[in-house]
Amino acid sequence: MVSYKELGLVNTREMFAKAIKGGYAVPAFNFNNMEQLQAIIKAAAEDRSPVILQVSKGARNYANPILLRYMAQGAVEYAKSLGWEHPQICLHLDHGDSYELCKDCIDHGFSSVMIDGSHLPYEENVALTKKVVEYAHQFDVTVEGELGVLAGVEDEVSSDHHTYTDPEEVIDFATRTGCDSLAISIGTSHGAYKFTPEQCTRNAEGRLVPPPLAFNVLDAVMEKLPGFPIVLHGSSSVPQEYVDEINEYGGKLPDAIGIPEEELRKAAKSAVCKINIDSDSRLAMTAAVRKVMATKPAEFDPRKYLGPARDEMEKLYKHKIEAVLGSKDKAL
Ligand code: G3H
Ligand code: 13P
Ligand code: ZN
Repeated sequence: MVSYKELGLVNTREMFAKAIKGGYAVPAFNFNNMEQLQAIIKAAAEDRSPVILQVSKGARNYANPILLRYMAQGAVEYAKSLGWEHPQICLHLDHGDSYELCKDCIDHGFSSVMIDGSHLPYEENVALTKKVVEYAHQFDVTVEGELGVLAGVEDEVSSDHHTYTDPEEVIDFATRTGCDSLAISIGTSHGAYKFTPEQCTRNAEGRLVPPPLAFNVLDAVMEKLPGFPIVLHGSSSVPQEYVDEINEYGGKLPDAIGIPEEELRKAAKSAVCKINIDSDSRLAMTAAVRKVMATKPAEFDPRKYLGPARDEMEKLYKHKIEAVLGSKDKAL
């Protein structure tokens, strides 16, 4: 058993309490490799922003669970070496799909886990989430549950259509499971294609304009559970400059579309205190790598294309922290 406390990590309890009070959200950035982790930590350390490092089941399989854990441990030391005296870094399992996976992460240094029972019948979701909470809380590990289904296709997360969270269920779910935060569905979705062109309108330049999120559902949830930490998954904005660059340099991402930053700014000021972003980092990385590959065909040193990709991701993370989520200087 490795306790996250020995690794210098923190759980989400205090982070979320402060975020709700302060009207901002904590960024939850997924990582799969060293360059993403370096960029996340550099951005968070320089901005003194609390940060959640998210690891999916797919990321664990890709990078190796042991290596990822030691990378997160290294991240705390790296943050300190950058002058961040008291790093507020949480290591979180994203979309845990079984009790066994959650337990394994808790036993190996994670400070927070998500158990995603959102695809299960309600009572099964309650029972599974409760079981994970009972185990996690013995070790002061926080647990995120989910109610409502997000649309979108990812390696480990897929659904053809969404179902908004039913606000009538949230009190019962939070009380019976004892979860520490709740992911809800209000129209966000995973990946770079969050809406079909048919669901959107087009602006004067022909760009897709997505339909608004269901803030009425968020309001109803907050009314039922005042002050309870709410989480938004699928919150990449799919910056069109990255999509354009990828397409310009040989990629093919037609009609990729995300959540407008303005809507995320609004959500961050509410009880939404964790906002999940993965796809935007993938786009930043892909755009930078494609550009080097296309414009400097003689390069074959990975540092020459992964370096610019890392710089671009750091810029992206800082932008999210400073201009969207409002978490800069909240972990001094
Ligand atoms: O919500 C899912 C995250 O974007 C992780 O995706 O399962 O492809 O690692 P992944
Ligand atoms: P995006 O695909 O919008 O980045 O969402 C990531 C996410 O929700 C991770 O759990
Ligand atoms: Zn997610």
